[in-house]
Amino acid sequence: MKKDNFKIAVFAGDGIGTEIMREALKILQLISDRKKMNFQLQEGLAGGCAYDRFGTPLPDESLKLAMQSDAVLLGAVGGPQWESLDYSVRPERALLGLRGKLGIYANLRPIIVFEELLDASPLKSNIVRGIDIMIIRELTGDVYFGRPRGVKTGKNGKRKGVNTLAYSEDEIRRIAVRAFEIARTRKKNLLSVDKANILETMELWRSVVTEVGKDYPDVALQHMYVDNCALQLIRNPSQFDVIVTSNLFGDILSDEAAMLTGSIGMLPSASLGRKSALYEPIHGSAPDIAGKNIANPLATILSVALMLRYSFAMSAEADLIEKAVTETLKEGYRTKDIDQPDKKLVGTTAMGDAVAANLHKLLN
Ligand code: IPM
Ligand code: MG
Repeated sequence: MKKDNFKIAVFAGDGIGTEIMREALKILQLISDRKKMNFQLQEGLAGGCAYDRFGTPLPDESLKLAMQSDAVLLGAVGGPQWESLDYSVRPERALLGLRGKLGIYANLRPIIVFEELLDASPLKSNIVRGIDIMIIRELTGDVYFGRPRGVKTGKNGKRKGVNTLAYSEDEIRRIAVRAFEIARTRKKNLLSVDKANILETMELWRSVVTEVGKDYPDVALQHMYVDNCALQLIRNPSQFDVIVTSNLFGDILSDEAAMLTGSIGMLPSASLGRKSALYEPIHGSAPDIAGKNIANPLATILSVALMLRYSFAMSAEADLIEKAVTETLKEGYRTKDIDQPDKKLVGTTAMGDAVAANLHKLLN
C-alpha cells in the first residue's frame, strides 16, 4: 500500500531559491490537499545563507534533517558575495556535502523540449523538435571528490594545483545498472560517454559499462567520446535517448543539453541513492535576478513532479503536474527567460499561480 506520510526537507538556499521554492511548495500543497497526503515539510538552511548564519554552508542540523527525510527539495545555492571564501565553506559545498553524505550517486536530468517553446531554443526548430533525452550523471565520484586535491606551493616557490579523477569499478557498475534499468523503461538505447582514448579511468568506465551491458541484452549500448558528444548534441540531438556519463562530463553536457530546450530555467533533476533522494532545478541561484519576481519557477515545479514519481510512487500526480506546466505554456504564459512575441509575460508568482490553477482543474 502507498504510504501517505512523507517527510520532506526543504532547502530554498540562495538567490532566486526562495522565490522559486515558494511556487513549488504551492504545487505540493495543492497535491497534498486534494490527495489527502500528509507531506511533512521541514525547512532548513543550506548554502550561503547557512554560512552567514552558522559559518558553514551545511550545518549539522541541516544534514541531519536531510538524512532523516524521505526526500530533499532544494532551490539553489551560491552568489558573488561568497565567491572569495575558502573552497571548504563555499555555498556549493552544501550541495557536494549533501550528495556525498546522502550517497545520492545517480543524477537524472531529463532534457525535454516543449513544443510550445520551440522558438525559444537558439537552434532551429527542426533540430530540437521532439527531443527527449535522459542524462544520467554519476554524482559522487570523479574530480569532484577524488583525492589528493588542492593547491600547494613547491620548493621552488611556485604553486601547483591537483585534482584527482578516480572511479572504482563498483561506483561505475552501480551507475551503469541504474542507467540500463532506466533505458529499459524508455526506447532502450543507452549511450555511455567517456574519454577512454586518453584517460585510463575512463577506459575502466567503458569496460565496466560494457560488462554490465551483458545483463541487459535488450538494451542497445553504444559508446562515445565526450568531445564528440558535445558536438553531436548540437548537430543532431534527436539521436539520443539515455546518456550515462561521469560527474564532470555530466555537469558540462547537461548544461549544454539544457540550452537546447530554450532555457535552463525549465529543467528539473532528481538525484537518487539507495535510500535518499534530492530534487532540484538544474539552474543555479541567478543572483543577478534574485528578489525581482522574474525567475522561472517551472524547473523547481517540475522537480516536485520528479519527487512524486521517484520517491513517493505517485506517477499519476507527477504526470498531472507536468501536464499542468504544458497547459500553462499553451495558454501563453512566459517568464522573461522564455518570453516570445505575443505571449503573456508574467513574473515568478503569477507563473506559479497559473500552473496551480491548471493543476487544480486537472485534479478535479
Ligand atoms: C550542478 C552545479 C553544481 C555541480 C555546482 C553548483 C556545485 O553546476 O548541479 O550542475 O557542479 O555539480
Ligand atoms: Mg552544473
